[in-house]
Amino acid sequence: MTQSSIKPIALLLATRNQHKTYEIQKMLGEMAHVTDVTTFPVLPEIEETGLTFEANAILKAEGISLHVPGWVIADDSGLEVDALGGEPGIYSARYAGPGRSDLENTLLVLKKMDGIPKVQRRARFRCALALAREGKTVALFDGTVEGSLIAELEGERGFGYDPIFIPQGYSETFGQLSEEIKNRISHRACALEQFKEWWKEQENNK
Ligand code: IMP
Repeated sequence: MTQSSIKPIALLLATRNQHKTYEIQKMLGEMAHVTDVTTFPVLPEIEETGLTFEANAILKAEGISLHVPGWVIADDSGLEVDALGGEPGIYSARYAGPGRSDLENTLLVLKKMDGIPKVQRRARFRCALALAREGKTVALFDGTVEGSLIAELEGERGFGYDPIFIPQGYSETFGQLSEEIKNRISHRACALEQFKEWWKEQENNK
């Protein structure tokens, strides 16, 4: 059977962040058809009360999959900065306060990092993915990309903290690097590679 004759997996992503949906669809390609909860406006908002990325991914995947049939996948992700004791971490989306923009969150990180020398600007993005069906988690995946923070915004690509994060081995931020590179090396890409392997294994064991 050719790749294109295989029926794509229908995956509902438990997010309203369309940047995540876009990246995940790009990374999975023909393997999956990815939609997100913006197409289901009546679904409940899941509160991210967990204390880890994994716990929040599980809350979102299970919470949404109770209400819709089929596969639900949730991505909980964020930036950890060593010099800030791991902040913003699980609070990445609301670091500057509820409802604040990506830019406001990023500027707050830059402000807190003001004056911190280059060698102490290590950071990483982390991503936890939970795959659920009918309210139960079926599998968990995770990914990390190490890097460092620069002192000002560079680049317009991507989203969130991308314009201040330089992945290890590169000299440009995720905001400057091509979509193709980010989607190959990012925390989300690493977690999705695990998902792809897992899915293949399930298919082979059928
Ligand atoms: P979540 O929706 O609670 O998982 O929050 C994720 C937040 O982490 C986003 O709003 C961004 O601020 C940040 N984040 C996660 N992944 C990325 C990424 O790939 N690039 C830049 N920022 C990211």
